[in-house]
Amino acid sequence: MTELRDAPADNGPDAVPAPDARVKTQRQVPRISEVRELLQFRAPVLDPVARRLAGALTIGDLRRIARRTTPRSVFDYVDGAADEELTVRKNRAAFRNTVFVPEFLNPVADPDLSTVISGTRIAMPLVFAPTGYTRMMHHAGETAVARVAARNNLPYALSTVGTSTVEEVRDAAPTGNNWFQLYLTNNRALNDELLDRALAAGFTTVVLTIDTAVGGRRLKDVRNGLTIPPSLTLKTFLDMSRFPSWWINKLTTPAIEFASVRDFPGSSADVAALLFDPGLAYADLEWLRATWPHTLLVKGVLSPADARRVMALGADGVVVSNHGGRQLDRTPATLEALPAVRQAVGPDATVLLDSGVTHGQDIVAAIALGADAVMVGRAYLYGLMAGGERGVERALEILRSEYQRGLQLLGLRSTDEIDARHVRPPFPLPGGPAV
Ligand SMILES: Cc1cc2nc3c(=O)[nH]c(=O)nc-3n(C[C@H](O)[C@H](O)[C@H](O)COP(=O)(O)O)c2cc1C
Repeated sequence: MTELRDAPADNGPDAVPAPDARVKTQRQVPRISEVRELLQFRAPVLDPVARRLAGALTIGDLRRIARRTTPRSVFDYVDGAADEELTVRKNRAAFRNTVFVPEFLNPVADPDLSTVISGTRIAMPLVFAPTGYTRMMHHAGETAVARVAARNNLPYALSTVGTSTVEEVRDAAPTGNNWFQLYLTNNRALNDELLDRALAAGFTTVVLTIDTAVGGRRLKDVRNGLTIPPSLTLKTFLDMSRFPSWWINKLTTPAIEFASVRDFPGSSADVAALLFDPGLAYADLEWLRATWPHTLLVKGVLSPADARRVMALGADGVVVSNHGGRQLDRTPATLEALPAVRQAVGPDATVLLDSGVTHGQDIVAAIALGADAVMVGRAYLYGLMAGGERGVERALEILRSEYQRGLQLLGLRSTDEIDARHVRPPFPLPGGPAV
C-alpha cells in the first residue's frame, strides 16, 4: 500500500526564501479611473414591487414573496394539494431525481427555444395552465396572465371557473393564442353556450379536464374556512390588517365570481356543483369532438389505456396531469406516467405534461421523456401573487432563463434536439430498465 506523505521540504540553492516581515508592500496613489470601475452603486429601486421581483431568482423565491403578500387562506388555496399531499411531493421528486447527461463542445451560443404545438410555433415549450378564481390571488387576474402569454408568444388557457370571461381575455390579449379549459356539465345548454363563446372569441383550443368527477379534498382550505368568493368573517377581518392592499384591491375591483357562467341562475355553490359532474362519460367526449371544430386536448390522463381511448374518440392530444396533486392523491408522478402515454398515442399526437414544474430544467426532462411542452400552474400564480402582471412576467423570465441555460449546458442548440439519451429518470421506462 502506498502511504501518502507530505512532499519533503526543498532546501536546495534555488528554493523560494521564507517570507520576510521586512519586505515592504509597494503602494501607489489611488487612480480615479480604477476607483470609478470598482464603485458599483446603483440607484435604489423605489418601487417596492419592482424591488421584490428583482430580488427573486427562483420560483421558490416568488413563492416566499407570495406568502408574505397574500392572505394565508388564499396562499394555501394555491400552494396546497389534496389529502396528505403525497402526489405533489412525488411530482417534484420525479423531476429532482432525474439526472442529466450532457454532450460537450457543441456551439450553443443562441439556442432556439421555440417549438410547434398543434401546428403553431410558440416561443418555448410552455403553456399557462388554467387556474380557477385567479382574481382572488391578485386583482389583476386572468387578463394579466393572458397578456404576459400573448406578449411572449405562448398559449394561455382560461378556466371555466375563471374570474374573467372569454370576452375579457380576448379583449386583453386579442393577438394571443388563447385556449379554453372546459368543465363539461350535464347541462347541454350551458356547454353549448361556453363553446360558442370560446369559438366566437377566437380561442384556438379546448382543453377538456377529466380528473374532477368530484372535488379533491384540500384539507388546508377546509381548515382555513376558505370560501369562494372570500367572505368577511371575524378571522378574515383580522387578516385585513395584515394584508391591507390585498383587501383594498379586492373590495374596489369587480366581485370575484365564476365570470363565464355568471348569468347562470343559482348561487355559486349551485354552479360549482353543476361544474363537477360525476356523470361525465366517454359519450360526452364524443359529443364535444363533434361540436368543437378546432384543437381538442384532454387533460388529466395518466394511463396509456385512457390515452388510447381519448385519441380513438378524436382528441388531438392529451395533457398528462394529476391536477398538481389537487384531486386524487396517490397517483403516479406525471413525469413517470409520461413515457408510456407517449408510447400509446404515437409521435404525432400532442402530449403536454403538467404538475410540479417549478424549474426551467423540469421542462427539459419532460420533453426528453416524451412531452411536446409543459403547462405550469402554481409557478406563475406565485408570480402573480408576488407582483401582479409583472410577477407573472418575472416567473416566466426565471423559467425561460433556466430552460435556456439547461439546453446550453447539455450541449443542445434547440428544443428539437432534446432526446431521451440526455436524461436518466429514477424509474424504469416502458419496455426496459431505466436508461
Ligand atoms: C389554484 C389552482 C386552480 C386550478 N384551477 C383549475 C381549473 O379551474 N381547471 C383545471 O383544469 N385545472 C385547474 N388547476 C390545475 C392546473 O391547470 C394544473 O393542472 C396544475 O396547476 C399543474 O400543477 P402545478 O401547479 O404544479 O404546475 C388549478 C391549479 C391551481 C394551483
